Amino acid sequence: MVNYRTPREWDVMREAGRAVALTLAAVQEAAEAGISSAELDAVGVRTLKELHARPSFLGYHPSWAPVPYPAVVCISVNDVVVHGIPSNTVLRDGDVVSLDCGAEIGGYHGDAAVTFTVGAADDEAARLIDTTRRALEKAIEAAVPGNRMGDIGHAVESVARAAGYGILEGAGGHGIGNAMHEDPSVPNRGRPGRGMKLREGLTIAIEPMFHEGGGDETRLLADGWSIATADGSRAAHFEHSIAITPDGPRVLTLP
Ligand code: MF3
Ligand code: CO
Repeated sequence: MVNYRTPREWDVMREAGRAVALTLAAVQEAAEAGISSAELDAVGVRTLKELHARPSFLGYHPSWAPVPYPAVVCISVNDVVVHGIPSNTVLRDGDVVSLDCGAEIGGYHGDAAVTFTVGAADDEAARLIDTTRRALEKAIEAAVPGNRMGDIGHAVESVARAAGYGILEGAGGHGIGNAMHEDPSVPNRGRPGRGMKLREGLTIAIEPMFHEGGGDETRLLADGWSIATADGSRAAHFEHSIAITPDGPRVLTLP
């Protein structure tokens, strides 16, 4: 069942989204060579607490996962595309790092992700990251009343394919509101003019996940959560939660 939210609900989701954005910024700021991803997660824990937001990911246990998600921020390094679990492994210069965080305030969730490099980016990493960010921007531009879900998927897919990148299989964006994951699913592939009609009040998370190597295949790591590219190439992930409004898309996960 798809929910449609009111402008007052968008405002509450905006507060949850602000907490997510501020947390991602604080964690990114701390992400330098020599720090472990577990230490970065601790920055996320502290920041959400200061903002009186509840972490959405900690303890989240979808039916396919062997254990509940054990952290507050997903930290996915290099070939890990999404759902990386913070550990004692330290970051190194040049690592491609994706951070994904969800938080709840007043019964509503926000969910967002960013990718950056530790220290200077090589040209190929910069292109991968810029392209994935641009796909998210294009997809958000397509999220207007009267368009269809396929227009969002097509925007993401066409940016990836034009750049020669693979697109993660089997996962994509989602409705978001009183739960972090709601209907409808928001695929990273699609045909223009196809799929569900986008209406005012729909609140969704859009999240392109691209593979540098060009293949779409992935493998699940032994921790049961981390999804890595099958070819070992690096990956990038950007995500915003948005509301579809008569005035166009409203990005909820900004500082
Ligand atoms: N943004 C990711 C998603 O929507 C976050 C997953 S949350 C986790 O799938 F708890 F499952 F890690
Ligand atoms: Co999400």
